[in-house]
Amino acid sequence: MSGRVLVTGGCGFIGRAVVAALRASGTPVTVVDREPWLGSSDVDSVQGELAEAEVRERALTEDVDAVVHLAAVTSVLKSKEDPVHTYEQNVAITQGLLELARQRGTRRFVLASTNAVVGDVGTSTITTDRPLAPLTPYGATKAACEMLLSGYYGAYGLSTCALRFTNVYGHGMSHKDSFVPRMMRAALSGEGVRIYGDGKQSRDLVHIDDVARAVLLAIDSEHTGPAIVGAGHSVSVLELVAAVRSVTGRPLPAEHIEAPKGEMPAVVVDVSASAERIGFTPNVALHEGLTDTWKYFQETWDEA
Ligand SMILES: NC(=O)c1ccc[n+]([C@@H]2O[C@H](COP(=O)([O-])OP(=O)(O)OC[C@H]3O[C@@H](n4cnc5c(N)ncnc54)[C@H](O)[C@@H]3O)[C@@H](O)[C@H]2O)c1
Repeated sequence: MSGRVLVTGGCGFIGRAVVAALRASGTPVTVVDREPWLGSSDVDSVQGELAEAEVRERALTEDVDAVVHLAAVTSVLKSKEDPVHTYEQNVAITQGLLELARQRGTRRFVLASTNAVVGDVGTSTITTDRPLAPLTPYGATKAACEMLLSGYYGAYGLSTCALRFTNVYGHGMSHKDSFVPRMMRAALSGEGVRIYGDGKQSRDLVHIDDVARAVLLAIDSEHTGPAIVGAGHSVSVLELVAAVRSVTGRPLPAEHIEAPKGEMPAVVVDVSASAERIGFTPNVALHEGLTDTWKYFQETWDEA
């Protein structure tokens, strides 16, 4: 593995898994987050708001070999409510970190991006050859960040990579509000779930362990540009609900409600190029991943 890695947003869902994987490989890690670092004491941490230059400077020290930039406004809904704040948080902070990485001579910069940068492609398969055509402020800010990475590579030779995650699920996501945690909470409390429309829309769900492994591979690879990190296998929402019923053994009654405007008919990704680019192929099958997630939700529920 490389030298010291700075993980922004290291206290979040993906961040904690990435930090754990880095520490397991013996890599020195610094976390910067507005939340306090409550994990292992062998991790250096800077608590603060990344919009402040002083916080970025304290975190991105001369000895940092690679930056994994995860901190962001992550909710599409929140990005629609406040696009200016989303720009400041997602684009301006990324620019600030890239500039500091250039000044400090950082070797590698890995960004958490999303397949939402390509917008609605109907039921077609998403590859990185698709043009950028985001349809939300969230997707637009991530696309803008990818362009900044490209510019810093072109102008200054900073080695950069944007990992476009699909829907990430797994242990450590109890604070999230996406479909998998909603189903897990409903299964625990004996409630039901709401399904948008007929539930035939398909989604790609990638397990957190695969995502953390992909981030470590990207730090070590020399690929510049985007790479898709997904399961490479999509399931319909109905199939997903059935899988959660099977894993949890709970009835999970479903109510179909009208789909909001902009609900994507499908998310189908091709991950084959990522094997060549960063050496990534997904390992965790959906049933196995949901079993791990259910165990985690039961434990956190018991603790609460
Ligand atoms: N979770 C997914 O399914 C998914 C899918 C695609 C892309 N992503 C991207 O992956 C990244 C991580 O997502 P996550 O699910 O772990 O989110 P998360 O909300 O669990 O974690 C984000 C962390 O970043 C910190 N943070 C955010 N802005 C900050 C700031 N300005 N200063 C200091 N700390 C700040 C938060 O405190 C939090 O701990 C994000 O960039 C997100 O857009 C996530």
